[in-house]
Amino acid sequence: MPHPPLFLATAIESVLRAGEIQLKHFDRGVRIDKKGVIDLVTEADVAVERMFRALVGGRFPDHAVLAEELGASGPPPDGSTPRWIFDPIDGTTNFAHGLPIFCASLALEIEGRIEIAAVYDPTRRELFTAERGGGAFLNGEPMRVSPAAELVDSVLCTGFPYDVHETVDEIVGLFGRFVGRARAVRRLGSAALDLCYVAAGRLDGFWERRLQAWDIAAGALLVEEAGGRISTLTGAGFDPHRGQVLASNGRIHEAMLGIIRDHKGQSS
Ligand code: IPD
Ligand code: CA
Ligand code: CA
Repeated sequence: MPHPPLFLATAIESVLRAGEIQLKHFDRGVRIDKKGVIDLVTEADVAVERMFRALVGGRFPDHAVLAEELGASGPPPDGSTPRWIFDPIDGTTNFAHGLPIFCASLALEIEGRIEIAAVYDPTRRELFTAERGGGAFLNGEPMRVSPAAELVDSVLCTGFPYDVHETVDEIVGLFGRFVGRARAVRRLGSAALDLCYVAAGRLDGFWERRLQAWDIAAGALLVEEAGGRISTLTGAGFDPHRGQVLASNGRIHEAMLGIIRDHKGQSS
């Protein structure tokens, strides 16, 4: 069923306005606090989220919001209320260190399914959008996943969760397996952009564990709508609230699942 055009328009307006705020603060001595030993939050994260809550709250007062810095608001998630899932800055560590790889990521969940996605990278001025069933777009142009069919011809990407100090063997062990089979493996620092890049055919596959819904909900829809495949790390059905994702162009998905299975078999 088509959604009111104001939904996608609001998603796009939110991430574009987020980008303006991010750029105002970027590389200019932004205040940084710690949520954990290596988990940062800057004043820009909070400023973007406040802008977003005011915009969506003003336009859709009955909708629920789940966002990273200020938590959940609105009716409980019983599936009947649309819910906006928002990451005000995905790539906060990059942002805080002046590395220009970050974005704002927004997904709209309706009846338990992600239906609309908008991700904006302000330093490259790249806007990624999708509506379920309507395709995926980069700055208004249709996007498709890559044609790579073999791992040896693939550029893969992953991310490291904030508990990596405690789980370094597990994380680096699997990373090493992929390094030994792929053309290259990257760690860019923004799960939402990693997924957008799979959708755009710049990366062939991406995996990561222990993520939050706001990191991956939008990017996962973009991958699907660009013709890719998305699952858990065991190949089960993807759910953004389960915190793990394997995304690919589809052709290399089984090979990636095989490597994850082998690694698990050997490390357990
Ligand atoms: C993080 C980024 C990073 C990923 C982490 C995420 P944040 O989000 O997406 O690439 O590896 O797991 O938590 O903290 O920058 O919003
Ligand atoms: Ca994030
Ligand atoms: Ca964030």
